[in-house]
Amino acid sequence: TETGSLSIVVLGASGDLAKKKTFPALFHLYGQGFLPPNEVCIFGYARTKITDNELRDRLRGYLVPGKNSSLEQSEEVSKFLHLIKYVSGSYDSKDGFCNLDKEISEHESLKSSAQGSSRRLFYLALPPTVYPSVCKMIKTYCMNKSDLGGWTRIVVEKPFGKDLESAEQLSTEIGELFEEPQIYRIDHYLGKELVQNMLVLRFANRLFMPQWNRDNIANVQIVFREDFGTEGRGGYFDQYGIIRDIIQNHLLQVFCLVAMEKPVSLKPEHIRDEKVKVLESVLPIKDDEVVLGQYEGYRDDATVPDHSNTPTFATVILRVHNERWEGVPFILKAGKALNARKADIRVQFKDVPGDIFKCQKQGRNEFVIRLQPSEAMYMKLTVKKPGLEMETIQSELDLSYRQRYQGATIPEAYERLILDTIRGDQQHFVRRDELKASWEIFTPLLHRIDKGEFKSIPYKPGTRGPAEADKVLLEKAGYVQTHG
Ligand code: BG6
Repeated sequence: TETGSLSIVVLGASGDLAKKKTFPALFHLYGQGFLPPNEVCIFGYARTKITDNELRDRLRGYLVPGKNSSLEQSEEVSKFLHLIKYVSGSYDSKDGFCNLDKEISEHESLKSSAQGSSRRLFYLALPPTVYPSVCKMIKTYCMNKSDLGGWTRIVVEKPFGKDLESAEQLSTEIGELFEEPQIYRIDHYLGKELVQNMLVLRFANRLFMPQWNRDNIANVQIVFREDFGTEGRGGYFDQYGIIRDIIQNHLLQVFCLVAMEKPVSLKPEHIRDEKVKVLESVLPIKDDEVVLGQYEGYRDDATVPDHSNTPTFATVILRVHNERWEGVPFILKAGKALNARKADIRVQFKDVPGDIFKCQKQGRNEFVIRLQPSEAMYMKLTVKKPGLEMETIQSELDLSYRQRYQGATIPEAYERLILDTIRGDQQHFVRRDELKASWEIFTPLLHRIDKGEFKSIPYKPGTRGPAEADKVLLEKAGYVQTHG
């Protein structure tokens, strides 16, 4: 492990993402001993002119100690808050970033006492419009200058552009300043426990390996549902819509892990190579395999235009053109203001050939991986109903994490991913060519939606979304609904 000083700079320190996700994740890492106080200083940077203490007061309410922590709640919070300093400045000002550099250097000279390297992590919890200027400022004024080694890394959040062209432009601008190994594009779904479990499941179990293909699998569904609407984020959301907010990034990343071939090894580049390949094997999306919806009441938000057609729900079928998956529909579905908060992967197997029990109408074998809430994996099986008669029923082999791993804490996605950025592990981050391939899949459709060529069908909040979506799944993907 590396030693020396570690400076973590959160840019956009007073924004929502920083308060709700970045600082709490850092706090949990601190509580578990990953951010040793003799090495670490955390800097908040933003435009607002406030003091260190004012920033600390704003953050306090978001910091809740985890179960693994050994310290008393209030003691732990105040010790952590003491690691935080605040620097104010604009996102394109030389003065601000020179100041920041001065503060970081001061910290480094105190902490490393000329015996270790200096590590500088810049977390951009900012709108992407300022990424290029902020990266330029970091590159010009804030790079690690230590002779003893170390690094400078930047972490960026979605949205990485709005379509292929803008994403590529952003990548090019950042790429002129930083090398790919210095850039960490976060997709927090890659930090979720059961997403990280996907490759283990597929490639460490003999049971699944020979089954995982078009001969056995009828369809795969990757579904994201939220039981609340855009809640104050309407202005942001309306410019993006559900495909850019959830499907093109989060669900497509999950899709990659379900559909990709086995990587040569667990090296990050090997894994990411396979993800790119499967993305590049996706065929153009067909018009009649898309259903869009918008929940009633979405436009009541003052920041949403009265005639907005932005989808808050979408079902899209992806088709993979390769030997493993030809003919198997991958259904990606996401919606806000639906009947539940849930994300899962459902792998539905084909009917049993020559079904002597005539049991297929009870349902097919289905393997479900519930990403959240209550992480679980279960397999729907047909079994003999216990008793004297030869009757069949559908039952489940069930692995619920909460029961099976009692007492174990499942880390927050951001916590895990930030630790990876410090350790220099890029496996769970999106590489530039991966990002490009994912925009290539959705850009033609998104452009046509933007031009108004697809109508979002209204649906009632708290429902399953527009009924048309189920119809398309049945007709185009042969998917029969077996759950609520
Ligand atoms: C974010 C989206 O990326 O993910 C939000 O912008 C969404 O709209 C959120 O609510 C969902 O994340 P999670 O981890 O709660 O499923």
